[in-house]
Amino acid sequence: MRTPLIAGNWKMNGSAALINDFGSAFADVSLPAALDVVLIPPFPYLDAARQAFRNTPLTLGAQTLNPVESGAHTGEVSGRMLKEFEVSYVLVGHSERRELYRESDEQVFDRLLAALDNGLTPILCVGESLAERDAEKTMDVVLRQVGYAMTRLAPEQRQAVVIAYEPVWAIGTGRTATPEQAQDVMAGIRAYLAEFSTAFAEQMRLLYGGSMNAKNAAELLAQPDIDGGLVGGASLKTDDFYAICQSAG
Ligand code: G3H
Repeated sequence: MRTPLIAGNWKMNGSAALINDFGSAFADVSLPAALDVVLIPPFPYLDAARQAFRNTPLTLGAQTLNPVESGAHTGEVSGRMLKEFEVSYVLVGHSERRELYRESDEQVFDRLLAALDNGLTPILCVGESLAERDAEKTMDVVLRQVGYAMTRLAPEQRQAVVIAYEPVWAIGTGRTATPEQAQDVMAGIRAYLAEFSTAFAEQMRLLYGGSMNAKNAAELLAQPDIDGGLVGGASLKTDDFYAICQSAG
């Protein structure tokens, strides 16, 4: 059985005050027993979050990392540094990084490897643009992104990855993929993973991301190949994020 995972990606949003709000709102809450919850604030809030989340089920994630461990890389943060702040998960290949910062599959892979080398769980984000969907290239694009990483990893490394399918046209647009659209692609990802081994494919956690909210989460999470969510906008409100976590039970 796969443990569901709800990850809230704040992107370049939030504040120190909001970190404390989450710390208070999630203190002593009862969430489904088998559920992993991750909050992914901007770097400057990680230390405050580490302290504020002590009595909560919230664990910490980071939004990116540099593949290099240290050195002359102004503005960058390494996996080793994230680990010092008790970060457990890190996003790699988010579509905003691929698009705005021109991260290639190769660069995404380097980050993913650095995450694994530092004992962090990489959440590999993949997804097609609207133009690619309209051109019926969805599975080509998604499996290229997944395949680039999976074919270069050793079996034990592959097992340590979480994959998030985020159709780019559904991110921040309020236009969620229908549960059927999401399920179709995610079943396709799992079928691809089964080419490595069925047992491996069955244990891999696949998240859906793209305008997931308190209203649509339950239906999305009920799909057989959706094991959790990567939540953007709705992870900035304690009530909404809590409701999404409850839907994952
Ligand atoms: O990382 C989160 C995703 O990009 C989804 O963002 O829920 O605001 O559409 P969103």
